[in-house]
Amino acid sequence: MEIRVALKEGLNYLENSKYTNPFFEVRLILSRLLDKDMSYLISHDKENLNDDILNEYFNILNRRKNGEPLQYIFGETEFYGNTFYIDENVLIPRDDTEISIEVLNKIFKENNIKSFVEIGSGSGIVSVTMANIYRDTKFTAVDISDYAIKNTLKNIKRYNLENIEVLKSNLFENITGKYDIIYSNPPYIRTDEIEKLQVEVKDYEPMNALDGGIDGLYFYREIIKSAKEFLSDDGYLVFEIGHDQADDLKNLLKDYNVEVIKDLSNRDRVVIGKKGE
Ligand SMILES: C[S@@+](CC[C@H](N)C(=O)[O-])C[C@H]1O[C@@H](n2cnc3c(N)ncnc32)[C@H](O)[C@@H]1O
Repeated sequence: MEIRVALKEGLNYLENSKYTNPFFEVRLILSRLLDKDMSYLISHDKENLNDDILNEYFNILNRRKNGEPLQYIFGETEFYGNTFYIDENVLIPRDDTEISIEVLNKIFKENNIKSFVEIGSGSGIVSVTMANIYRDTKFTAVDISDYAIKNTLKNIKRYNLENIEVLKSNLFENITGKYDIIYSNPPYIRTDEIEKLQVEVKDYEPMNALDGGIDGLYFYREIIKSAKEFLSDDGYLVFEIGHDQADDLKNLLKDYNVEVIKDLSNRDRVVIGKKGE
């Protein structure tokens, strides 16, 4: 089958699937299978595909049609200009989380940050991205999930980092010491909202990365409670939040100087709580 025919058939196959962007995805899938960029598909549209590629192509389209996210199918995703391993046991990094990196970068540039802990590292994208930039800072990434720990370790290896340790811990249970930054993008979706999420999320992403309890604030509350013990004087608490949670976080962070940062869609996305006067 020629490339152009395979693309057309793929497009027809995915056409009525609610959760796909068929035009983009069929090209992305085929170009990855051929290990070429997407422009190759146009310049070589009459090239014949061999059976192995075709089988794999339609197999992936079938998984997509059922709602499986492409990132899990490929086992990799892009975040902040770098590629990370991920699998179906960790949350797929969201573009919004790049705002966290921007915020953390600013804090690092304006302060002498020696230590950083992330609660709930998932795939490890945030800690690994930051540890890769700030090689003299000591990073600690913790998660309650063995899968997340394994995934974070794989990404640390991918970027050859020696300034980051990974711990299995239920929140701060296995953590000692003080940190200049405590960062978390915890599960923050209200339990009763989970059923309403799109199939790709609720049927494929791990529940312990999503469910933030009855009011979505369980993890923020717990982390803020422990921060007293684990945050350095003048330290920063940084959270990614749901777009409607800024007021709740301001309430929970009454003892801190609070700043709320918006994402590119102008929605509240990150909260900074600065300890100090
Ligand atoms: C929303 S995900 C964020 C993952 C990653 N930081 C990111 O931004 O893509 C939340 C993470 O918190 C972890 N988690 C859930 N409960 C936890 C707990 N009690 N202690 C530590 N980590 C926890 C989950 O396993 C999950 O990896």
